[in-house]
Amino acid sequence: MTSESKVHSFEEVSKHNKKDDCWIIISGKVYNVTPYLDDHPGGDDVLLTATGKDATNDFEDIGHSDDARETMKKYYIGDIDTNTLPDKPAYTPPPTSSAPKQKSGGMMTLLQFLLPLLILGLAVGFRYFNKKE
Ligand code: HEM
Repeated sequence: MTSESKVHSFEEVSKHNKKDDCWIIISGKVYNVTPYLDDHPGGDDVLLTATGKDATNDFEDIGHSDDARETMKKYYIGDIDTNTLPDKPAYTPPPTSSAPKQKSGGMMTLLQFLLPLLILGLAVGFRYFNKKE
């Protein structure tokens, strides 16, 4: 079997999620592990649940051996078009939402500061009037 390098879209790879047709994505590479399902020491279930997503973290979390990494080369069928990956960190908008928060926060601190002053002022005012009488 000659392994021609091909770029696959995430959508295309996701379709191969069955026991007789199982592709997984690890570190930007696509592997057709269908022939390996029965031989995988971790079982076929984990491989099947690793389809339809970027399984890099799942694969790395196990701490696969160099032997495992060597074995997977046999099943390499191409690369994933990273632009089609849904889980890539989405663009985070600039923190405009925190601006109004800061505004109302400033308003609150102003009130918190003014209210005791107002009470103090009233108290002093009362004392002043009481003294006069
Ligand atoms: C082509 C891809 C893969 C290959 C060649 C492979 C190969 C192996 C091998 C050789 C082992 C035995 C332990 C070792 O040598 O590290 C193993 C164990 C295991 N693998 Fe994979 N694996 C692959 C993908 C995955 C994926 C995507 C998962 C996702 C969860 C997974 C989960 C596991 C688990 C749970 C074990 C058992 C660990 C244990 O019981 O100690 N593997 N794998």
